[in-house]
Amino acid sequence: MTDPLPQIRIFDTTLRDGEQSPGASMTLREKLELAELLDAMNVDIIEAGFPAASPGDFEAVSEVARRSKRAVICGLARANEKDIDACGEAVRHAAQHRIHTFISTSPVHMKHKLKMGPNAVLEAVGRSVTHARNYTDDVEWSAEDATRTEFDFLCKCVDAAIAAGATTINLPDTVGYSHPAEYGALIRRVMETVTNSDKAVFSAHCHNDLGLAVANSLAAVSHGARQIECTINGLGERAGNAALEEIVMAMRVRSDTLPFQTDIDARQLSRASQMVSRVTGFPVQYNKAIVGKNAFAHESGIHQDGMLKHTETYEIMRPEDVGVAETSLVMGKHSGRHAFKDRLAFLGYELEGDALNDAFKRFKSLADAKKDVFDDDLIALVDEQLAAEGERFKLESLQIIAGTRGPQTADIVLAVDGVSSMAKAEGNGPVDALFKAIRAAMPHEAELDLFQVHTVTGGTDAQADVSIRLKGDGIMAVGRARDVDTLVATAQAYLHALNKLEARRKKKKLAA
Ligand code: KIV
Ligand code: ZN
Repeated sequence: MTDPLPQIRIFDTTLRDGEQSPGASMTLREKLELAELLDAMNVDIIEAGFPAASPGDFEAVSEVARRSKRAVICGLARANEKDIDACGEAVRHAAQHRIHTFISTSPVHMKHKLKMGPNAVLEAVGRSVTHARNYTDDVEWSAEDATRTEFDFLCKCVDAAIAAGATTINLPDTVGYSHPAEYGALIRRVMETVTNSDKAVFSAHCHNDLGLAVANSLAAVSHGARQIECTINGLGERAGNAALEEIVMAMRVRSDTLPFQTDIDARQLSRASQMVSRVTGFPVQYNKAIVGKNAFAHESGIHQDGMLKHTETYEIMRPEDVGVAETSLVMGKHSGRHAFKDRLAFLGYELEGDALNDAFKRFKSLADAKKDVFDDDLIALVDEQLAAEGERFKLESLQIIAGTRGPQTADIVLAVDGVSSMAKAEGNGPVDALFKAIRAAMPHEAELDLFQVHTVTGGTDAQADVSIRLKGDGIMAVGRARDVDTLVATAQAYLHALNKLEARRKKKKLAA
């Protein structure tokens, strides 16, 4: 019998580092839905948030902890008692919980961000870990900006953290500055230098500023790390974090040279990717590894010919390995309610009662508008419905005049807290008219920061998939919507962003 491969713990931080990405905020319900999926796909540790950041974050971490089944639920805390107390209180509801406390150790961070000298930082390391241990035996300590930290000082801090009881040591490449050979060597050297390093699991946490986050994380495990911190779709600050799906599949497909294993159920990767894209409004790049629309598409004649002869000619993994359905053409206008419900269940949506009735009604009108309804259309339809629940601003009706004769005008009726508000506006083109009409019906300060249109499937009757990012008061929010009518999808996406901006503004006020 061969020895089992070393186990790598997958620490997902989509709900914490991922959510810190500008515009990627999630509602409580969205966080719970995502946490449930992460737990079901066997993520080892879910970093559910930063409890001291706001009452909303505290509530989200507590609720994720309460509902957790298998995963360790973790919260982030700075190196002070208040943060650690909030974190300990929030995570304690989970059967298995962890406090993750951190402090910067690089000269530039200590001097300009913390305004603390090395001795004070070293002292804070021991103090914070000792305090966290009052709540749990599972304490992780991170040296923020570890890759730009002076080596001897980094080792002293790691030593102090382990001596105080930290069981996981994380060495983040906070600014995405390192490269694989260097990062791997750092992990190994710290483990070899710190005398008590065998008492802790070493962890990689890499940002993607140079596009090296996944490569750096894999180098880290090849050099002794046994935990990787990552996010679905690589969501995260700036260029993001290491992408969970890429890490898991790299180890699975290349176990010959990356002889490690994880517990992740890879067949849920595609669904997790779509869910994160939906709740954040961030579209997944078409050619994104593992989960992009084109990740398994073969266009050139030579490739298609090779694939028909033998799939392994051009495919190193099968779409179904990561949960991409083999065929996605499923329904049309003659499909019944039962088939609709079954297909939704297959796609991971358990709808009942009014929610199912509403979704079925919307499916019927979609099937009237377009001949073939694909899985992606169904996902878009249900996601849309889920996203709209509880929103303050809703689209009641829209009439647009576009084309060469002009003037282009938009006539809109919105429901604002259940009360209709109508407006009509002319613009420089139909989109401009539409945005002006929304602003007239519902006056607001936010500015348009990004406007993107894709299609959900192929064909002239495909649904438009619109993303809109709004910016106001230093807050960003991304809204996303799909409809066979591009301008209706645009209006819906705008309102979705406005609703999110409003929710974030409230959260900021509460935290102040
Ligand atoms: O990137 C980073 O350094 C972090 C720490 C807080 C772990 O996210
Ligand atoms: Zn980070």
